[in-house]
Amino acid sequence: MLRRRVNFLGFMLAAAVLLHPPRMLATAPPPAARPWMNPSASPEQRADLLMKAMTLDEKITLMHGVEPVPIKGYVGYVPPIPRLGIPAITEADGRAGVGNGAKNVTLLPAPIAAASSWDPQLLNAFGKVLGEEQWKKGTNVELGPSIDVVRVPEWGRTFESYGEDPYFNAQMAVAEIQGIQSEGPIANANMYVTMNQESNRFREDSIVDERTLHEIYLPPFAAAVEQAQAGTIMCAYVKTNRVYSCESADLLSDILRKELHFDGWVMSDWGATHSTLSSVEHGLNQEMPGDKYFGLALKQAVQSGQVSEALIDERVRQILVPMFRQGIFDHPDHGSWSANVRTPEHASFSRAAAEQGTVLLKNQGGILPLAKTTSIAVLGEAGGSKPKAEGGGSSGVVAPYVVSPVDGLRRAAASAESISYADGSDLNAAAEAARKAQVAIVFVHTDETEGADRPSLSLPGNQDQLIAAVAAANPKTIVVLDTGGPVLMPSIDKVAGVLEAWYPGQEDGNAIAAVLYGDVNPGAKLPLTFPRTATAIPTSTRQQWPGVDGRSIYSEELDVGYRWYDATHNQPLFPFGFGLSYTTFRLSHLSVTPASVQTGSSFHPVHVRVEVTNTGQRAGAEVVQVYVGQPAANGEPPHQLRAFGKVQLQPGETKTVTLTLDQRSFSIYDESARRWISPPGRYEILAGTSSRDLPLHGTVIAGGGSQ
Ligand code: NOJ
Repeated sequence: MLRRRVNFLGFMLAAAVLLHPPRMLATAPPPAARPWMNPSASPEQRADLLMKAMTLDEKITLMHGVEPVPIKGYVGYVPPIPRLGIPAITEADGRAGVGNGAKNVTLLPAPIAAASSWDPQLLNAFGKVLGEEQWKKGTNVELGPSIDVVRVPEWGRTFESYGEDPYFNAQMAVAEIQGIQSEGPIANANMYVTMNQESNRFREDSIVDERTLHEIYLPPFAAAVEQAQAGTIMCAYVKTNRVYSCESADLLSDILRKELHFDGWVMSDWGATHSTLSSVEHGLNQEMPGDKYFGLALKQAVQSGQVSEALIDERVRQILVPMFRQGIFDHPDHGSWSANVRTPEHASFSRAAAEQGTVLLKNQGGILPLAKTTSIAVLGEAGGSKPKAEGGGSSGVVAPYVVSPVDGLRRAAASAESISYADGSDLNAAAEAARKAQVAIVFVHTDETEGADRPSLSLPGNQDQLIAAVAAANPKTIVVLDTGGPVLMPSIDKVAGVLEAWYPGQEDGNAIAAVLYGDVNPGAKLPLTFPRTATAIPTSTRQQWPGVDGRSIYSEELDVGYRWYDATHNQPLFPFGFGLSYTTFRLSHLSVTPASVQTGSSFHPVHVRVEVTNTGQRAGAEVVQVYVGQPAANGEPPHQLRAFGKVQLQPGETKTVTLTLDQRSFSIYDESARRWISPPGRYEILAGTSSRDLPLHGTVIAGGGSQ
């Protein structure tokens, strides 16, 4: 069969040479045999041309991965089809650097740290580093970013995500996806959707109303599709409203395809495909990592007439279009898994991102920044013997090195001898070391990982006792949190300073030393709330999390994160959006124009202007946050983040920050009509520097209208 085809091709070639003089052949446009390889045709045209040449087997080849992956590295692999010039699809994990055991890559800070910068440009650069390293490793689908809204503070993958606000996550997702895709790979927005726990992630059923789904959990995915043109989406392990994500007509067909007009491909999380017929029918394009449902079973379903070939064509086209759009066909040899892809520039970026993501939470009496001559006792495993630079699970990265905090401090101090270290396993020894030093710094950590939620919000082991013992020995105690999410702080009143450094990546110690000594002025803000007690959280019942009989009820509805604390008048330990600086700022002169808007097709954006003055002695950055409080009749949480902007200011300097409110700021999702509406009324515009510090107020009168 093969021989006959070769002979036939040989014959065609000979005939062509006879019919056309060689010079004409040499200048001929792309080989007529493969018109889809013409890069000047549109991705859609190229996909259509290619599909005409594909057999059913070849189409099905694209719709599932192969196991075991035949070449080293990639966690997901779809083999090439050389006959047609279709390259292999090579998929690798990467939330904070290239994963899957790759060597010679950069370990970046956890995404929650990068997001704490509240700087989409930083997220864009983060995506570029990730995208470039993946591309040079030969990866053409980067399995990230993770963009789910953090519903449950104990969620084991909180560190992989951006935080608890849908608008905020959407901005970060767009910036990172654009960064990744600008470097070559197709980005994969995951995990779609209501992926809010690890405890029972393979079976859990999230019972959530459509309004909450649209207003809280979908916006990051909508933005990834509509604003960043993410090429792929990963459907999650969990069920949403009784149906597995990867076979849900509501999630895949109605929302993703019809509402959001997603034209790329949906791949299942690893082992998250549960059927052939309803998965392919409702919108799954690719089963990963193997072929249990989308291999022979799918072929037989086509042959027996249960699945039409037209449907297969639709699903395959949705894979090919983003591949053509991203140039995957045009750049087949862009790297290899063994390549050394880390660079000095990426290491500097990793450090800068960690510095920009470190949040100053408490600074009593201006204890920070420290003079470089201060004698310091560094205490805790994360401070030296076991630096906590990253979270666990599929986001894990083989770090080329990790600078421990004690090493970073010793490098930056006036004299390395002034920095002592004890791991804190012996509380008396730790207290003794603290007593001998001018300042004690306790590094505490959590071990967060995919596959397990945290059993409690308390620090594990003896770390709370360590903080208490050290604080009792030396009132000048500073706590550095290396956690992926919020923790309880029973000794908060006993310590003078607190920094949230998250999982800071390979430059851990250099970054934290720069912040502690004031070489860098912290300008980060929390992207999620820190509760005061274990039960003062939006999801405190077992019905909500981890669920009863496999079902978790999203009964808090829209009151996720700070929305719940505001609605219930609960005082958090540290609110969403909060973070201090070594300087101070004043916000003034709020203007909101126009003061009234038409909604619907005649809507014009509302401009919010705020003046920000640096009233302190150091250069620093402030984040202006604008929240909208809807008319009470709309049944929304008290106020919700709708715009933010970061500004750098020299001491004494004033700048005007101009932010824009879009129509969604004045909208709610109407569940019965299944569309967004803008109820008329008076909308409060609140500006400030955290969700609990909003001193400037304005209003917008909005007219009614639907979108
Ligand atoms: C399961 C994880 O949920 C997902 O995020 C990851 O990309 C795959 N495993 C592949 O490692």
